[in-house]
Amino acid sequence: MNLLTYIMHLAGSGASAYFSALQIRDIKTRPNILAGFQLAESGSVPFLTKLSQRAATEGDTWLAEKLAKHAEDENKHGQIFANALKQLDKKVIDFKNRPSETKEENTTDKKSEQRRNSFFGIYYEGYEAEQLKAECIDWNAFMASTYILELDASKDFARMAKVLPENDSKARNLKLGMLSIARDETTHAAYLYEAMTRRMSAIQVQQLVDEWRSRKVNAITAFIANKLQGKDNQRSLVQDDESSNQETELIVAR
Ligand SMILES: [Fe+2]
Ligand SMILES: [Fe+2]
Repeated sequence: MNLLTYIMHLAGSGASAYFSALQIRDIKTRPNILAGFQLAESGSVPFLTKLSQRAATEGDTWLAEKLAKHAEDENKHGQIFANALKQLDKKVIDFKNRPSETKEENTTDKKSEQRRNSFFGIYYEGYEAEQLKAECIDWNAFMASTYILELDASKDFARMAKVLPENDSKARNLKLGMLSIARDETTHAAYLYEAMTRRMSAIQVQQLVDEWRSRKVNAITAFIANKLQGKDNQRSLVQDDESSNQETELIVAR
């Protein structure tokens, strides 16, 4: 990694952590960010499960087992966020039962433009959606890109946990849950790094990691620029939970 990328990385992580910390500390914006995390964590489970099956088919038992455990952890993380939302009498919007989007929002052009300009669109620039599917994604690209995301997520979750207030039990439970998630993300980053070292030389690993670090810096810079210009059009991801009167228990992992 060159010095400029490194400085941009530190600045970018600091800025994105600042926005996330603001959102999670404020009880008004907390449900939406929790819903975003729930969708992201749970959403990765089918992908990781398929990758685990693919690794097994290709004869890499070590990787298949690591990926299966990874999928299990992400499922647990999704539940931690779902339970934290339930404690706030909220749940993720059931998008399937929502009326379809307006014609203008739904045009293919607009969607592909949004995808191109999104964090993931920039991070995976040069890859078609088809190439990013579990069935065919290049293993090196998967390992390095996910390594960077997991490594940063472990730090981001730990930082966010720290800004949660200590004086109410719901926030305290969420804090413990997020700290346990942060620990899991560290183990995910570690096995992905090890997976790369099993496939290539230390120099090649370094080059690959550097490439994906640069991609992340570019993606986060665009994300922050959109935020500052108010262009990110954040939509609501939560709705009230009608079953909220029932007793709920927050899962605090390990
Ligand atoms: Fe996770
Ligand atoms: Fe993870």
